[in-house]
Amino acid sequence: MIVTIQLYFRMIAIIVSTNRHHSKSKQVAQFYQNLLTNLNAETQIIDLAELPDDFARTALYENNGKNENFNRLKYQMREAEKFVFVVPEYNGSFPGVLKTFIDGLGYPSELLHKKAALVGISDGVQGGALALSHLTDILNYLGLNVLAQRVKIPFMKKNFVEGEITDPLINKLIAEQAELLVKF
Ligand SMILES: Cc1cc2nc3c(=O)[nH]c(=O)nc-3n(C[C@H](O)[C@H](O)[C@H](O)COP(=O)(O)O)c2cc1C
Repeated sequence: MIVTIQLYFRMIAIIVSTNRHHSKSKQVAQFYQNLLTNLNAETQIIDLAELPDDFARTALYENNGKNENFNRLKYQMREAEKFVFVVPEYNGSFPGVLKTFIDGLGYPSELLHKKAALVGISDGVQGGALALSHLTDILNYLGLNVLAQRVKIPFMKKNFVEGEITDPLINKLIAEQAELLVKF
């Protein structure tokens, strides 16, 4: 008799998409983690601030797999079935460190055939609208399915205070997005 064991990964990983320490992105990730916990989802936060400082030189290309501290984050990505990317707008796009991190995940990527929701944040008016479009192109190229409902939080200083979203419409949209992601 042949017994097939299938592994189902049910973890949702919430990615803090910058390596800036004490980032607002981390606070939004924690806010999102609460939303998902209330929906009975299993979550973990992957903070790019925990990337080794030298990873671009020691974990990519011919050094792929050689940096244990980078591999730890890579394995956390592997364990996840779905992702939430919390993406700060940096110079009209997403942070370069996120692209470098993705480049270190190899090809075919750890992202292949998985699913993600995107949240953009900014101090200015856009809420990372362009950043999310740029990132969606790359994630789709790597075979990851992006949830259509992308949430933007512009004017962070006004709209995100003491770990909470103050704008009722954004609050509604992000709660809807979390529910859609769980069902996605
Ligand atoms: C390098 C850098 C570039 C930034 N570029 C923009 C930008 O183009 N537009 C904008 O509205 N805010 C910009 N910001 C502000 C961030 O989007 C904003 O502070 C965001 O709420 C949180 O970023 P954090 O996760 O690094 O704290 C920039 C911040 C940094 C550090």
